[in-house]
Amino acid sequence: MAKRIFICQSCGAEQHKWMGQCPDCREWNTISEQVIETSARAGNNGQIIATTPITDIRRETSPRQSTFIEELDRVLGGGLVGDSAILIGGDPGIGKSTLLLQAAGKLAGKHRVLYVTGEESTQQVHLRGERIDALHDNLHLLSACELESIMRTVDNARPSMVIIDSIQTLVTSRLSSAPGTVSQVRDCAAALIQQAKRSGFALILVGHVTKDGTLAGPRVLEHMVDAVLYFEGDRGHAHRILRAVKNRFGPAGEIGVFEMTDRGLIGIRDASRMFLAERAKNTPGSAVLACLEGTRPLLLEVQALIAPTVYATPKRSAVGLDVGRVAMLTAVLERRIGLPLSQHDVYINVAGGARISEPAADLAVLMAMISAYQERPIAHDIAVFGEVGLTGEVRPVGQPEARVREAASMGFRHLIIPRDNKERLHKIEQKARFAKTASEAIQLTAIKHLSEAAQVSLTK
Ligand code: TYD
Ligand code: MG
Repeated sequence: MAKRIFICQSCGAEQHKWMGQCPDCREWNTISEQVIETSARAGNNGQIIATTPITDIRRETSPRQSTFIEELDRVLGGGLVGDSAILIGGDPGIGKSTLLLQAAGKLAGKHRVLYVTGEESTQQVHLRGERIDALHDNLHLLSACELESIMRTVDNARPSMVIIDSIQTLVTSRLSSAPGTVSQVRDCAAALIQQAKRSGFALILVGHVTKDGTLAGPRVLEHMVDAVLYFEGDRGHAHRILRAVKNRFGPAGEIGVFEMTDRGLIGIRDASRMFLAERAKNTPGSAVLACLEGTRPLLLEVQALIAPTVYATPKRSAVGLDVGRVAMLTAVLERRIGLPLSQHDVYINVAGGARISEPAADLAVLMAMISAYQERPIAHDIAVFGEVGLTGEVRPVGQPEARVREAASMGFRHLIIPRDNKERLHKIEQKARFAKTASEAIQLTAIKHLSEAAQVSLTK
């Protein structure tokens, strides 16, 4: 039996008739008609199924399999879980296929791995595999796009891990729509995820991302899979950040840092060193932030440039930070510290192409701006963290110890921190003083208001 439905290709909502604008996501010209095959399931009134008291549920600890790529294991929360489904998203060319082929090559040492390539030929994958040392006879390639054939092949080959590169290339014969449309992506993914749970293999789906940062169409996949990882980074830099935005088996928000080399992706353990590598010391408009990505402390350089405006309304612009937040902080600086910024453009940049979403970055952004405006550099051994509110008050942030420790290990000797974080840190400071010589001790300056920051940080 065939049924006609109308699906928005942007948000996946189903409508009863064709419309010019999707009433759910308000996008124009995104609704397209599709014919689906439905099998008649008449006469099923349901049946009674036994329920289980929650206390009787046996806890099964799913064994985790290391991917032998430390940074990937960290993002996954300790390794791959047997029958989990993982979505890896990112811009085309960011390194998704490279990372997965590397992992597949390593896992093939212990397990049978099937790599389904819908985008590149098997020759191309082989060529890349050679370069990144991923050739192994337990790693099988399959160049195919038809879902039904892939599923039968998987049933026959019984691999422990299946990689689909990418989900947007698959088609099921059940639907008439083109590959990459929301309904195709959703149906193919759902069928594969079910098969993974049933047969007990780990499934990794690659999904390309659109300009606005969401998966093209398959945003609908995010809630179907167990973990969603995004690959970030820009073309101008060699480093890549893999971020878990959802993880049913581990903490979300965890990141892994990689560098793209001519032999594939290499995990970077001391990411702070890499991000601070090009920092010019003693230049105005630069502040070092001790931030936290997942459970991982990371030092990043925040840069500010302030210039008289030539526009009617001054520009507020930000790379690597939310521009709305920067506009808000600019207003705080104007009203609470009295910097006359209404005639100035403000540009903020997180050096090295990193992206920050933590409010703990506020203080660093503001101090970089003050330093830029006054053209006085911040002392080179100062690092900061703290959220700043609308009245200019400096608020405490999570895990100050981890931040201080990271800064200390990177050679910073003076930290400017929120006063309410100081209590817990007192012990660290004490320890540091006793453990090391006086010159190596960490000095903590705890502040309650933004106005105190400028006084302690700027060089004469
Ligand atoms: P790729 O993994 O194909 O990206 P995606 O699957 O996300 O689209 O990455 C391709 C880019 O990576 C390409 O620009 C070449 C580069 N690259 C290297 O620099 N070194 C390598 O060893 C490999 C395999 C790729
Ligand atoms: Mg690819």
